[in-house]
Amino acid sequence: RIRYLKTTVKQDQPPCESEETLMKYTCTNHLLLVNRHHPLPESCTAPDLAVISPEFPSIQIQSEAAVMLTDLLRTLHAEDRIVPVSGYRTMEEQKQIFSDSLRENGEEFTYQYVAVPGCSEHQTGLAIDLGEKREEIDFIRPDFPYTGICQTFRELAPQYGFVERYPKGKEEVTGIAWEPWHFRYVGCPHAQIMTEHGWVLEEYLDYLKEMQLSEESGEEEQ
Ligand code: DAL
Ligand code: ZN
Repeated sequence: RIRYLKTTVKQDQPPCESEETLMKYTCTNHLLLVNRHHPLPESCTAPDLAVISPEFPSIQIQSEAAVMLTDLLRTLHAEDRIVPVSGYRTMEEQKQIFSDSLRENGEEFTYQYVAVPGCSEHQTGLAIDLGEKREEIDFIRPDFPYTGICQTFRELAPQYGFVERYPKGKEEVTGIAWEPWHFRYVGCPHAQIMTEHGWVLEEYLDYLKEMQLSEESGEEEQ
């Protein structure tokens, strides 16, 4: 597995270029899958958290993801144009968001756009909802268009370990509607490989499993 990843990572792409960094990322749990079929494991403890912007002290994500996101926003001079809307959520917070949405938006909308409590990757600290800075920002569905600074962010995000987690056309696989605003930290080089192949996390993990099985059964590597 790691042999394949080593050969596909683009060595000229900062900031995940060194083999040492690569090993570090592949050996951590940034690929944790959380969806309606895979609830957050009970053994998962709250991650180490950090704020992204002092302007939004209540919005935090896992500290390494926060460093990378801050770096990316700074690189794009986007700190005042892209704002964090929702990061790490406790089980209690996810329950509250889910029940508020059921009451305000109904069942169909809620199951499309809000993960069932216990099954939200916001509970891992590895997910972040971002919005283009506006006077009014919708908490559940912030605007994050495919144009301008948001699109530039989206295109550069994989180099910093982030992927758009719920793309259009993958709703059947992810179980969640198209969410242009929800980014997931998976680290490098995973984010780059996923983006290159158009794979969502479920598909990428299937691929890694197949690679492992074929290596174990002694088949030739590609
Ligand atoms: N909006 C995403 C699916 C969540 O609630 O985790
Ligand atoms: Zn989200």
